[in-house]
Amino acid sequence: RKPVTVPNLHAMKAEGRKIVMLTAYDASFATQLEIAGVDVALVGDSLGMVVQGQRSTLPVTLDQMVYHTGMVARGLSATLLVADMPFMADRNVDYALEAGARLVGEAGAAMVKIEGAAPHILESIHALTERAIPVCAHLGLTPQSVHKFGGYKVQGREHEAAERVLSEALAVQQAGANILVLEGVPTPLGERVTKALDIPVIGIGAGPHCDGQVLVIYDMLGITPGKRPKFSKDFLAGRGSVQEAIAAYVADVRSGAFPAAEHGYN
Ligand code: KIV
Ligand code: NA
Repeated sequence: RKPVTVPNLHAMKAEGRKIVMLTAYDASFATQLEIAGVDVALVGDSLGMVVQGQRSTLPVTLDQMVYHTGMVARGLSATLLVADMPFMADRNVDYALEAGARLVGEAGAAMVKIEGAAPHILESIHALTERAIPVCAHLGLTPQSVHKFGGYKVQGREHEAAERVLSEALAVQQAGANILVLEGVPTPLGERVTKALDIPVIGIGAGPHCDGQVLVIYDMLGITPGKRPKFSKDFLAGRGSVQEAIAAYVADVRSGAFPAAEHGYN
């Protein structure tokens, strides 16, 4: 398999080929993603919840992200590796550049993901991409804003809020973001943002019209404690191995079978 690159992802959007993204937090799972032909691996700060057992992603540190990103990088070869900027690593442009340098230079990521579209975030996206560190923006239900939102709530339901998400999406693209993760928004808004942007939009709980999909691997293996999120699906159910489950996820995203209407918000 040829290495997946940022230009490849743009070509996939142009050609209408769905992008498959999945989280991984260690080398063994990274190898499973690699074998299944996942396009993009994400070391998400969701590791705070699913690996560390925290209540939110906020306690995750940059050192921990560097540690996990290094482990995942060693399990991959062709899969493009994206690493999350943890909470407050993007407090200003200098911090964001330092964090980007560590996640890419030290740990081996090919791209960093940053939540939001506040002025200092737009500046950081610009500063990172100017220094050849590709950026994945992240909008909608951004988990690092849980206290601001008052919980993990679908974003962009009202007209004004939907317009805000759309204008933020245009702003992160304008700032230089290479791709966008759009999380927890109604299906029609997912479609609008995807059509409005030139850069690929990867959805999670954003409906079937996005250019690709991402899930937390423990959710799609059905081993995340508690209730399965509405937007996810247990791909291990009825299958014999983790490898088969990931292969089914890859096939269903590529064919458009996942996500179905029931996984979206209206
Ligand atoms: O941390 C994470 O896993 C994420 C994805 C859910 C997009 O940010
Ligand atoms: Na995250």
